[in-house]
Amino acid sequence: MKKITSLTKTAGVALALAVSANTAHAQKFEGLAPTPPMGWNSWNTFEVDINEDLFKEMVDLIVDSGMKDAGYEYVVVDDGWEAMERDAHGNLVPDPEKFPSGMKALADYVHSKGLKFGIHNCAGTKTCNGLPGGRGHEFQDARLYASWGVDYLKYDWCSHGTADAKETYSTMRDALYAAGRPVVYSLCEWGNNEPWKWAEDVGHLWRTTGDVTDCYTCQGEYDLGWKFIMDLQVGLEKYAGPDHWNDPDMLEVGNPGLTFTESRSHFSIWCMLAAPLMAGNDLRVMSPEILDILTNREAIAVDQDPLGKQGYLFMDHPTKNIWVKELSDGDYAICFLNTGDKPYTQRVNWKHYAFLDLETGYDVYDIWADEVIGATDENYEWEIAPRDVRFLRLRKR
Ligand code: GAL
Repeated sequence: MKKITSLTKTAGVALALAVSANTAHAQKFEGLAPTPPMGWNSWNTFEVDINEDLFKEMVDLIVDSGMKDAGYEYVVVDDGWEAMERDAHGNLVPDPEKFPSGMKALADYVHSKGLKFGIHNCAGTKTCNGLPGGRGHEFQDARLYASWGVDYLKYDWCSHGTADAKETYSTMRDALYAAGRPVVYSLCEWGNNEPWKWAEDVGHLWRTTGDVTDCYTCQGEYDLGWKFIMDLQVGLEKYAGPDHWNDPDMLEVGNPGLTFTESRSHFSIWCMLAAPLMAGNDLRVMSPEILDILTNREAIAVDQDPLGKQGYLFMDHPTKNIWVKELSDGDYAICFLNTGDKPYTQRVNWKHYAFLDLETGYDVYDIWADEVIGATDENYEWEIAPRDVRFLRLRKR
């Protein structure tokens, strides 16, 4: 009898282990992105023109400029790091001229600075620049990334053929999980298959549109201005939350095609959207004004608010937008954006903002002016310049 019991027990444990191994396969690493990931990525400025010296210089600048202290954490090598072919064992190989010390050495360097290392590849057979993609090699690649010390994977969608997006991205999720090293998984599927509807259990963030570029409203075949992308985020707020973020693409703040005002408004709106904040400017030539935008603690606090609510478009109008984001502790962020070509006067009577608790009231803090400008028992009138914002935090009393 005793024997039978212990046999049954052993079988029970074996079954439980089998079940947990099975379910373990169908999950992402939980808890890696309680707030939207922040970092720097090579693509927006350098495209494939990257190498290890340049990358290390950027890593040093993230630390020395104060960006690391402000929360920028993941440093991501985008497309262009690979050699043209896998090796004889089917492993991905870094381009020997651009990255002669290899990716493990680069990851070690990033880690030695207290930052985390990210890498780019593609769910299709080739990256958008014709380098080896991951399709059919997911488990092998995930093990290689783990051995290098990769903390963040941006997974693109070029050359996907007839592949099903959810299935393909889930295979890589399972591969990363099986490799055992926690990796933030960033789906770069351009919003083609509405990932906000299925990717919550697959990745930590998913692109919602095609690529951003450094202009305001332009719209090329693949490249979109940030204002154009902003308009496409309306209605997606209900899909975002801790560990599963909509990604309206990386920041163009400080890149040559944007004016200072456009950069600052872009950053404000990305914070309102609880967007991942991946800077993409050349840190070697960053002006103090641009650094001030990227490291503004109060703006970042709106983005990184622990409640994890994406802001929504409260009022749409042909030349003005009002965005609202609910924050923890009863606070709200409100961002007025002049989308038109002429200055306009914004009149504010807080009674029209029905979601506010005006009985208790709020202090009105202007984020870019860095001062409390009054309280919600007063009404306001501001002139807002074209493409500029008034970015406020209402602090609950
Ligand atoms: C695009 C992606 C960009 C960049 C580029 C690299 O598909 O959206 O962010 O990664 O590929 O080729």
